[in-house]
Amino acid sequence: MTIAPENRRMLSLVPHARGKRSAVTCELKCGNACAHPAPNTSENGYFRDIASAAFSRRRMLGGVGGGALAVALSPAGQAVAGGRGSAHHGAGLRFTPIAPVPADVDDLTVPKGWTWTPVIRWGDPLFRHTPEFDPEHQTEAAQRQQVGYNCDYLDIIERKGSGGRRAVAVLNHEYTNENIMFPPTDDEQTLAEQKRVAMAAHGLTVVELRRSGRGRPWSMVRGARLNRRIHLQTEFAVDGPAAGHPLLRTQDDPLGRRILGTQNNCSGGTTPWGTVLSGEENFNQYFVANDTPENKRYGIPTTAGGRAWWTVDPRFDARQPGYENEVHRFGWVVEIDPEDPDSTPVKHTAMGRFKHESANIRVAPDGRVVAYSGDDERFDYLYKFVSSKTMVKGSSRAAREANKRLLSSGDLYVARLTGDSPAGQIDGSGDLPADEAFDGSGRWIPLVEGGRSKVAGMSVAEVLVFTRLAADRVGATKMDRPEDVQPNPVTGRVYAALTNNTNRGVGSNPGVDEANPRVTNREGHVLELTEHRNDPTSTRFAWTLLLVCGDPSSAGTYFGGYDGPVSPISCPDNVAFDSTGALWISTDGQPGTLGLNDALHRVTLSGRQRGKVEQFLAVPREAETCGPVVHDRDGSVFVAVQHPGEEGSWADQHSYFPDYVAPGTLSRGRWGGPRPSVVQVHRA
Ligand code: FEO
Ligand code: CA
Ligand code: CA
Repeated sequence: MTIAPENRRMLSLVPHARGKRSAVTCELKCGNACAHPAPNTSENGYFRDIASAAFSRRRMLGGVGGGALAVALSPAGQAVAGGRGSAHHGAGLRFTPIAPVPADVDDLTVPKGWTWTPVIRWGDPLFRHTPEFDPEHQTEAAQRQQVGYNCDYLDIIERKGSGGRRAVAVLNHEYTNENIMFPPTDDEQTLAEQKRVAMAAHGLTVVELRRSGRGRPWSMVRGARLNRRIHLQTEFAVDGPAAGHPLLRTQDDPLGRRILGTQNNCSGGTTPWGTVLSGEENFNQYFVANDTPENKRYGIPTTAGGRAWWTVDPRFDARQPGYENEVHRFGWVVEIDPEDPDSTPVKHTAMGRFKHESANIRVAPDGRVVAYSGDDERFDYLYKFVSSKTMVKGSSRAAREANKRLLSSGDLYVARLTGDSPAGQIDGSGDLPADEAFDGSGRWIPLVEGGRSKVAGMSVAEVLVFTRLAADRVGATKMDRPEDVQPNPVTGRVYAALTNNTNRGVGSNPGVDEANPRVTNREGHVLELTEHRNDPTSTRFAWTLLLVCGDPSSAGTYFGGYDGPVSPISCPDNVAFDSTGALWISTDGQPGTLGLNDALHRVTLSGRQRGKVEQFLAVPREAETCGPVVHDRDGSVFVAVQHPGEEGSWADQHSYFPDYVAPGTLSRGRWGGPRPSVVQVHRA
């Protein structure tokens, strides 16, 4: 049923003003990506897809075998053949949705009857002899032993046999906000040290947690065996078909098999074998490089600016002889083993190089593993990787070691989506077409298959190092900034957050299609993808848009057909699932589009309430909600609060989260300034 927006009710919205997106986020997080023309200028078959879209769902059923596709297109709420059940709740967390929170509130807001506890903060010491956090006198050496900045991906993995009392946390540190991290200075030596501190604040943290019992708040264990910092000086091994290729060689690594560091680690995923994958996202902004078509396609600056890290580490100036290939050594999915603090983390070239938001795995019926990943750029693509080997069952050391090689070889695909409504019915407003759904079918187009390149004129290594250019050539569908892409562990369906794309349909940029149906898409949408026969190794799929986000009283929004009250939601970013299969979505950008603090929402996926969005929490002022982890059976929800108070300055901090002590003071590890932190929300 189509619901007229004016008749749709919203969950108790408080009055708010419309703001604008933070310039600080744009500059520091993604190198002002949106200020530049979108780097995908390829003519990649996109217009052909639109032209061929005007055929009916009935014809499509006839074309590919009605029985099989009828399964794939079965309405929500019915079991998907081959899946492990249907997503529903009724079980799951019980909470009263909060009212949306205006964007100037510097507090973490949770439902009535709930409270929150900071568990891991920027600067918390990890090791026994680590210096205490001292923001006025940070050093590179101290920061390498302390929790890094701007946490994004997060998982809390309970330790087996601990009765719920011990866990290991893994978190990514995407970028740094130097303007609020450091006292201002003109001293060159101090500035150089601040750059080195910022580099050390990137990467990942592994830290053990303990607590008194289930449902209770966790706390960090300083000096625990598994504690580890991974940063820009940590050595990574390169594996997969591009390892050792000349495109990966530099003067520091003439064999192209050892890379120092990982950076701009955004979201990620925990594998079924217990390791953590992390996506190197906006790596381009840290470099200056020669003006080549390949560097241009990746948005790598050709003039000096930004953080200017090359002043303390010359490899970030990739114009210099011997460092031209340094830019090729970032933009990968990396794998970390949190159970082995001495293990060498790995960069998996088989999964391709682009601005990986994350990588999330589903095991296929035949035991191969499939990793979904999005390339977070306007007009870029959705990908999946299918391993060539099958997962070894069990938790033995041998099984774990074998499974850690699963992502080293396999097939790489990119998505082409075709709508089933006539192109003329996709008018750019967000209004549904006549069949009342933005939906259709799709193909996974091979880039590498069976160890061979499927892209004319490109070798396997070239496809993997220049994956964006390879995908351009095969006619992938240009999407509205793919953020998190995750399979639902209950149903197998895959959910992709398309966060926004204000260039869609503007000027000479590509116009709308059924999968990206709004001109100037400020608020994003959420795509639901069902693999053919629910087999993740399939090359065919069906898709539908679950949400077309925004203020529900605005035209051109869609909430899965649900006609009850919903929370406003804008700029979907990270997704997660609870044990019932309900979808949880965190946001990045609500202050700019709705004048509201960013949020974490639960979305019902099945039954009569499919599309119901309920806000669980709001993060403090100028922060983004990241890394949601929902342990509903434990009564806990975790979020990584990224860049609180990012528009402030050292002298004029805008947030005091999470310590909320007097501005600028430091008292027993609590500081009067913002600290990106992992927070546990639990019953009061
Ligand atoms: Fe780092 Fe795509 O957000
Ligand atoms: Ca349609
Ligand atoms: Ca993100």
